[in-house]
Order: sequence, then structure tokens, then C-alpha cells
Amino acid sequence: MLGVCYYPEHWPEAMWADDAKRMAELGLSYVRIGEFSWSAVEPEPGRFDWGWLDRAVETLGKAGLKIVMGTPTATPPKWLVDRSPDILPYDAYGRPRRFGSRRHYCFSSETYRAESRRITEAFAARYGRHAAVAGWQTDNEYGCHDTVRSYSPAALAAFRVWLRARYGDVAALNEAWGNRFWSMEYRSFDEIDLPMEAVTELNPSHRMDFFRFASDQVVRFNAEQVEIIRRHSPGRFVTHNFMGAFLDFDHFKVCETLDLASWDSYPLGFTDSLPMTGFSEAERARYAQTGHPDISAFHHDLYRGVGRGRWWVMEQQPGPVNWALWNPSPAPGVVRLWAWEALAHGAEVVSFFRWRQAPFAQEQMHAGLNRPDNVLDAGGHEAREVARELGNDWWQEALRAPATSAPVALVFDYEAVWMHTIQPQGRSFSSLALTFAWYTALRRLGVDIDIVAPGANLSGYRAVFVPSLPHVSAAAARAFAAYDGVIMFGIRTGAKTESFRIPANLPPGPLQDILPFKVARVESLRPGTTRDVLWGNRTYACGTWSETIEPREGVDVVAAFASGGPAFVHSGQRFYLGVWPTRELALDVAQHALSLAGISTNVLPEDVRMRRRGRITFAFNFGSDSRIAPSEASARYVLGAQTIAPHSFSAWKT
Ligand code: GAL
Repeated sequence: MLGVCYYPEHWPEAMWADDAKRMAELGLSYVRIGEFSWSAVEPEPGRFDWGWLDRAVETLGKAGLKIVMGTPTATPPKWLVDRSPDILPYDAYGRPRRFGSRRHYCFSSETYRAESRRITEAFAARYGRHAAVAGWQTDNEYGCHDTVRSYSPAALAAFRVWLRARYGDVAALNEAWGNRFWSMEYRSFDEIDLPMEAVTELNPSHRMDFFRFASDQVVRFNAEQVEIIRRHSPGRFVTHNFMGAFLDFDHFKVCETLDLASWDSYPLGFTDSLPMTGFSEAERARYAQTGHPDISAFHHDLYRGVGRGRWWVMEQQPGPVNWALWNPSPAPGVVRLWAWEALAHGAEVVSFFRWRQAPFAQEQMHAGLNRPDNVLDAGGHEAREVARELGNDWWQEALRAPATSAPVALVFDYEAVWMHTIQPQGRSFSSLALTFAWYTALRRLGVDIDIVAPGANLSGYRAVFVPSLPHVSAAAARAFAAYDGVIMFGIRTGAKTESFRIPANLPPGPLQDILPFKVARVESLRPGTTRDVLWGNRTYACGTWSETIEPREGVDVVAAFASGGPAFVHSGQRFYLGVWPTRELALDVAQHALSLAGISTNVLPEDVRMRRRGRITFAFNFGSDSRIAPSEASARYVLGAQTIAPHSFSAWKT
């Protein structure tokens, strides 16, 4: 269940056999190669140098390793850029983004699409049926370095085609976008520009369609590679390595043609440097060497959903990275904790990035399992420990048992993120931070969570949380109406139509059938200003966002604002909270909803998180003090003990 990312082209051939032998000895079974190898494989247009890659594949295969072959399209070679500069992506100021790093291509470039098909076909035809090749990775991290939304001439042409297909005639587009406003009407699709460089705010409907278009271009690009690989490589899986906290395309849609999802987990970098998670400075410092307790888990749960139950960690941080604002070491034991956390959440494989730290180029300061002098580094020792532990009977048994399904679903929508990005209506509003507020509350209550797309069948869940879903599609509305469990909706749900207008009946729009109230007004709040919510004998000082709810018959008020007016309402089992919750309010609301759903919960000790797989329950301690695991008296510990050591975990059988 372990693997590693390897770059034979970075090392003398004389090292390969020893590398392969040591990988196998360490307990690794998979090795991913090839994803940045284009210039080494095709040094000049049409002249292929397969020899070295053939020998690398043989060497790795001979050591018993299973290969995940990457298509090299994240790094088009210089000769291709010089010959066809129209492949370059453009930034939002209309400047081409040039050669010298990676991902320098535009998803809309017809030239590049043809090149992508050509090189994919060459790789797939050569290695598709090789016995050592177990699967494929398309490209590498779509969208990394802000590359989904390109403002190139190619993107402009493709956007107009996309709009024509969506609206049919331009009058329909003018109506949908509200172009009568500020005299923005168009006479033909050919007049429409990319949303860039306007004097002030662009029409949100225009931007929203551009975001959708850009996402669709990724879906199409990926599907083309998948189709070619499947033709040449029967019986092998195809995946893509998605990113953390990256939301510029719809991952559910890209994954529809893939066999499984995979993602790249860098908990320290994400905790340190991603602004949109909403982590406080204190949390970033507290978890600087472990990663925030929810950052990996959130993505594990998300990509399990994206992959329809099948997913890997394709790249696992093994030591300090090079790209965050600050790059500390993982605390001793934490690489092992991360690997087991992923496995507990259902990962099929955890693959470390990378085998050996490169002494050159952009990532020379990025640790690997081995140091540049080829001595096994701290992360390598911990990977070996995990490999040994994986042989235990209790784990083999847990893997055979049907995976227990989570009792709680959290609905996550990429379009919701785009809508909130386009129209935050207040500087502090971050879609991901709001999602984390709910996710963290549920995790602190120790429940397992599935993350699902809107419209997913909810019938198997005891409770459902919808942090925010501005546009409620017909499919999503049907799924909510059909669901008879406890469901908790958050702010701005049902607040927009598909074309980014306020619904005629006001928010929550189509949900007024099941939630009979209107949101009459919303306000965003600057830091330090709050709206107090009273519930029982508690007062919660909520910031960031607050709504004025006008209840109709059939709605009961659970909690009200101190100034009067409902803050938390319900109609039967359907709840709506009209305020951005404080940590305490999210926790209390989540506990209230779960207890109505028949799930009894306790708040876990600080820094502790849980996850079940088969009959094994894991409790992870992200803190630097020992914690007591909340196990039943009958629990039989298989790893660790009831006192969970700092930066470690315990596991028990129930
Ligand atoms: C990932 C990427 C890898 C490597 C790694 C460094 O985003 O896929 O190629 O750059 O980050 O942390």
C-alpha cells in the first residue's frame, strides 16, 4: 500500500538498480515515473530517445515494483514552445506566461491539445501493455500555479464557441447576464471578450461562465488523454494527481472518466501558507510541524468522494518542502501519522514524494525519503516503519471487512466556491474557510464524514450538512426534498440562480418549498464587529456574515439574534443557520443536529481526531502533549495505548 515518486532521468543510470532494490526492501510497491520527462524522451521534434526510459522501466519492474506512468504534458519542451508559442497560457493582464518552469500551456490551445494527444499516444503505445506498468497518471496537478484560467487568444475563441453552445442566441445571453445594466449588451457572440482588464468590477455572470468554461476545458483535455491510454493499456487504472485546497475546476467532473482519484498531500505547506482555509495565526503556529488536524483529512474525505470510493495519496510530504512561506520539519513521528491517517480514511496507496532529494534546480530544498547523499532520511525511516506495521493481521482483517460508511455527509460544490470568489460581498468571506468551520466542528465530535457533490443520493446518511450552496440545481433540490434525515443548511444557500441572479422569490430560492422563509437582507461584517446570537443560556458573538430571516408558517425559531429576529430556524428536520458560526456555535449546532439524528457524540480532547476503518478505530494526536483516547472499556488496542503519545496515534479493535 506504499509507493514513491521517482525521477530516473535525474540520476546516473548506475544508481537505478540499487535505488529499485532499496525501494523494494523498504516495503514500497508502487513507483511513479515519467511525468516531467518530455525533453528527455523527445529531445527534438519527432526524434524519440526511449532507450533510457525503457531501461528504467525494466530495472524497476525487475525489482518487483509496479509502475505508475505519468504522461509528460505538464512540461512541454522548449522546442515546442518556440515552434508554437500559441500553446502558452496568458495571465489576466493579457501577457503570455513563458517557458522556464512548468505548466506553461493553455488548455484551449488547439495546437497543444494535438501535441498532448500525440505524446500521450506515444507513451501509451510504448508502455501500455508492459507487465510492470500497473496504471497511469494523466499530466501533473492540473491548475497548479494558477493555470486553469488562461486569457489567451485561443481561450477567447474557445470561450465564444462555448457560450454559443450554451445560449444559442446572444439575446438569451444578454438576458441571463443582465446586460441591460451599464449598457453591456452584445450584438453577437463575436463581440464578447474574456472577463479581464475592465475599469471596475466585471459582470459576475460573465465571470461565472468563464470559470465554468475554464473548468470544462480541463475536463475535455483530461478525457482526451484517458481515451488514448485506455485504447493502448487495457486493464490498467488511470488517475490524476489532484491538489490540496485547489478549487478552480470541478474535480467531480474531471474524475468521471478516471478509475480513481489521487491527491498530493503537503500538510505543513498547506497549514502554513494557504490563506483561504481561514486558519488563525495561532493555529498555523500550533500545528506548524504536524499540519492542521483537519487539513489532510478534509482532502482524504473529499477525494474519496471525487474518486467514487477509490483514491490514493500520490504525493506525501516526507520532510520540509521548499514552497511554503516557512518550511519547518515535520515533528518526529508525523510522517508515519500522515501515512496511517490516509489509510484510515480509505486510501488504497500512500506514495511519498520523492525518493531522493534533488541537489539541483527549483526543488533542491525539498526533502525526499533519502538525502541528496543517498542516506535514508528521517521520512524514509518512518516510511519503513509504516511498511512493517502494514503486515499486521489486524490491519489485513480491517482491509477485508467492508468499509463502514460514514453516517454524515457534507455537501461540497466547486461552483459554490466560484460564486463566493466572484462575489464575496465582504473581504473576510472565504468559501473554503466556511466549509472548514463545519468540517472541523463535525470532526471534533468524532464522526466519520463523506464529502459529496450536490445532487448525490443522500439516503444512506443519518445527517447532512450543507455549509453553503448558492445555486441549488434542480437535481440538488430533488435530493434535499427526498431526504428525510436531519439536514443543516448554512448561509447563502439558494441565494443565486444558475446565471448568477438573485432568485425571484429571494433566497433560499427553490428551497422555499422545504424551508418556508425568505432571507430579506444580508450583511457582511468587518473583523471585530459581531452580531450576537442567543441560544439557551449561551451567547455567541458571530462575525463575518449575518442574514435577516423572514419566517413564514411552518418555520420554528431555535435561536434568535440579541437584536431580535431569527438566527437559527427549522422546519421539521430541516435546519438553517443564518449567520457565520463561531467555533462554539458550529460545534453546538452540529451536536444538536447529530443528536436529533440519533448519533450521540462527545467533544474529543484538543488536537485529537478519529476515523474508523473496518472494526479498527484510530485516534490521531496532532498535539505535543499526550491525550487520552475516548475508547470503550472493551477496546483492544492494536497500536499504541489509551494514552496517545504526542504526534502519534493509537488504534483499537471494537
Ligand atoms: C507538487 C508537485 C510535485 C512537486 C511537489 C513539491 O505540487 O506535483 O511535482 O513539485 O509539489 O512539493
